[in-house]
Amino acid sequence: MKLNVQTLNQLFLEARTHKAWQAKEVPDSLLKEVYDLAKMGPTSANCLPMRILFIKSSLAKERLKPLLDAGNVEKTMAAPVTAIIAYDLQFYERMGELYPMVDAKSWFVGNEKFSQKTAFQNSSLQGAYFILAARACGLDCGPMSGFDNTKVDEEFFKNTSWRSNFLINLGYGVPEKLPPRLPRLVFDDVAKII
Ligand SMILES: Cc1cc2nc3c(=O)[nH]c(=O)nc-3n(C[C@H](O)[C@H](O)[C@H](O)COP(=O)(O)O)c2cc1C
Repeated sequence: MKLNVQTLNQLFLEARTHKAWQAKEVPDSLLKEVYDLAKMGPTSANCLPMRILFIKSSLAKERLKPLLDAGNVEKTMAAPVTAIIAYDLQFYERMGELYPMVDAKSWFVGNEKFSQKTAFQNSSLQGAYFILAARACGLDCGPMSGFDNTKVDEEFFKNTSWRSNFLINLGYGVPEKLPPRLPRLVFDDVAKII
């Protein structure tokens, strides 16, 4: 069944990347709800490598601030929550429960290149599912790659197997502050059916 227009608008057609934020709190319970939708999106061999660190307190925000590109500081400081979408390089430790039909862990142990590719590819997908799940829950998003991944990993994930992928500011945007929508490529520019 095709979704109705109102739903398509909320998820895609009217959803925007927000940079100005209302001073309205995002409850932790809503972040959990968003994750519980996003986790249902498909990943290769159900490997689920995405990990998320939600930066919510002003103390945590101050730790993130110097690691951001200058153009991302103001919007990130104003956002009620910033999610660090990360991946676990040792995601394969959970494969026994997540994909029990075969010994999937053995595909990755000792194969750093394949593990890295799988973790990055699938956590990027899961981050995209997270954006759509957040929109489905009535939140606005502001994804960002303009930050120092190495420094973020050092600051927040030192001595762990987590690595940062990208950031998402989360909250309730200020539509009046949005710039005009940028163009999108049309089907014939990007797709071939053979
Ligand atoms: C992975 C990713 C990284 C992005 N990085 C930044 C960023 O560092 N700073 C920024 O201002 N916008 C960033 N953006 C926002 C994009 O420019 C924006 O989503 C795009 O222009 C579409 O805007 P719209 O959703 O309002 O149509 C990023 C978006 C994505 C998905």
